Amino acid sequence: MNIIKASKDNFDAIYEIEKTSTYEKMSEEELKYELNENPVAFFFLLVNNNDEIIAYIDFWITFDSSTIFKIVTKENERNKGYAKKLLTYVIEFLKTKDVLYLTLEVRKSNIYAIKLYESLEFEKIVEKPKYYKDGEDAIYMVRGIN
Ligand SMILES: CC(C)(COP(=O)(O)OP(=O)(O)OC[C@H]1O[C@@H](n2cnc3c(N)ncnc32)[C@H](O)[C@@H]1OP(=O)(O)O)[C@@H](O)C(=O)NCCC(=O)NCCS
Repeated sequence: MNIIKASKDNFDAIYEIEKTSTYEKMSEEELKYELNENPVAFFFLLVNNNDEIIAYIDFWITFDSSTIFKIVTKENERNKGYAKKLLTYVIEFLKTKDVLYLTLEVRKSNIYAIKLYESLEFEKIVEKPKYYKDGEDAIYMVRGIN
């Protein structure tokens, strides 16, 4: 397993996984923007020894704060520690960027994602009622960096 920076050449493979990810799916346009244009976005991939994408993370850095926009593990590769590996890598990366905290919103029902974040010392700060289009609440979580 290896963690590398995503490039526009990875669009098709990422989009294929994105289409099967359970929650908010990025449209083709959104994914292209995240990969090619968003000036604050960092996009990393966890790839196997055949260079196949297993998981990816898209996070934004604005001044001293960072937020996770997307983290996805390919459906048949879940619960094997890959998201945790990727996120641990990102936390170490952020320490080199003078970032003070990492934030995210997660659906209240997304128990595996919440488990992942809690295992990496994120704290639940507040609930955001009806945050998602379908009316589900979000939990806002934060982890200090450094
Ligand atoms: C959330 C998600 C990224 C987790 O990826 P993953 O690679 O399966 O996560 P990991 O294997 O690193 O597991 C992380 C933790 O969750 C737990 N977990 C993950 N899947 C689980 C499952 N199916 N059953 C029980 N526990 C599970 C693991 O045990 C682990 O907990 P631990 O560190 O306390 O042992 C993945 O489920 C996913 O892609 N979901 C769809 C997209 C999504 O919801 N992203 C998050 C949006 S905020």
